[in-house]
Amino acid sequence: MLTGFGNQFTTEAVAGALPVGRNSPQKTPFGLYAEQLSGTAFTAPRAENRRSWLYRLRPAASHPAFTPYDSNELLRSPPLGDAPATPNRLRWNPLALPAGQVDFVDGLVTIAANGDVAAGTGLAIHLYAATKSMTDRAFLSADGELLIVPQQGALTVVTELGVIEVEPQMIALIPRGVRFRIELQGPARGYVCENFGALFRLPDLGPIGANGLANPRDFETPTAAFEDNETPCQLIQKFQGKLWTTTLDHSPMNVVAWHGNLAPCRYDLRRFNTINTVSYDHPDPSIFTVLTSPSDTPGTANCDFVIFPPRWMVAEDTFRPPWFHRNIMSEFMGLVHGAYDAKEGGFEPGGSSLHNCMSGHGPDLASYNKAIAANLAPHKISDTMAFMFESRNVIQPTRWAIETPLLQSDYESAWRYFPKAELPK
Ligand SMILES: [Fe+2]
Repeated sequence: MLTGFGNQFTTEAVAGALPVGRNSPQKTPFGLYAEQLSGTAFTAPRAENRRSWLYRLRPAASHPAFTPYDSNELLRSPPLGDAPATPNRLRWNPLALPAGQVDFVDGLVTIAANGDVAAGTGLAIHLYAATKSMTDRAFLSADGELLIVPQQGALTVVTELGVIEVEPQMIALIPRGVRFRIELQGPARGYVCENFGALFRLPDLGPIGANGLANPRDFETPTAAFEDNETPCQLIQKFQGKLWTTTLDHSPMNVVAWHGNLAPCRYDLRRFNTINTVSYDHPDPSIFTVLTSPSDTPGTANCDFVIFPPRWMVAEDTFRPPWFHRNIMSEFMGLVHGAYDAKEGGFEPGGSSLHNCMSGHGPDLASYNKAIAANLAPHKISDTMAFMFESRNVIQPTRWAIETPLLQSDYESAWRYFPKAELPK
């Protein structure tokens, strides 16, 4: 693996395949086709510019016309316009694993979204549940980069630029447009954030300093790997929220060498350098940001990817769980592993919750009572990995999300029975 976030990588699966000293020579090594993949505008400032040069057996352009693919109508993009945005706190049980044979593409369902795919703003949050590998099928999103958060089952993500293995508590980040297929070792379930805004990047650290949170060298990008075969491959493309399909007469994973700073990567969330208080008060959860997609308003993200990993709790004279909160930002949460420290029940691994702009939320009564009575000795929360996609704009559930029986009807009761505070008589 190549290490570092957004580094300028060079890699070749066959010695001599990568041109030296120029990107597009008249005669490429072995007659490979040179092709640029642009993740930002040509003219994006140097610090923002993301692109790679691919050297492949056939150009990606070599395909018949796409036709509509209508086998998954639950995969959606904003604006949704099919269910009202709701101020209610929502929580869902985990997606059931399919009874039959379903692969990653057909197992995707959109639970919520905001922004506008055509305007390049906002995000879509998809869930997936799959039981079989993609075989002779590949997928790409022309709409946004894909942040994949496995919750159950390891995934082998075979991309044009190389192969990534991920398991629960790891993430994979696939750039917009990159073709890939997902192979399973067993039933798999998880979450996907499709980011239509500025590319995810590491957050600034400010006074934290030069190190901490997700360290850049822990992001791993695969070396070049290719398939040289003439097996027909169905290519499914998400384009402006709709799916399209065509059939290639070869594998799209035919990049023999590449160089550049736009490439898929993985990150093990267990390597996160968790920073928290050593005195009092729970810091704002932004202290747990792994990646951020900034908006045009400084400090106000199109999407922050935030985790709640294992950590020591040592604050004195402090209510240690996440406090009660109303937020201008909207918060979608998922649970990869264990339990989340603000909820004693009802938030299962694989489940989801949505607390939108100004919706009051916080610990449930059981967690609250436990926290105010706790002996504040140092305590390690060791068996947990929750996460949040936090966005500047209201996250709207899809019609599927409102109508599915997975939606919990009694979530409001988490906050219904708090007794009144007693003033002195
Ligand atoms: Fe919150």
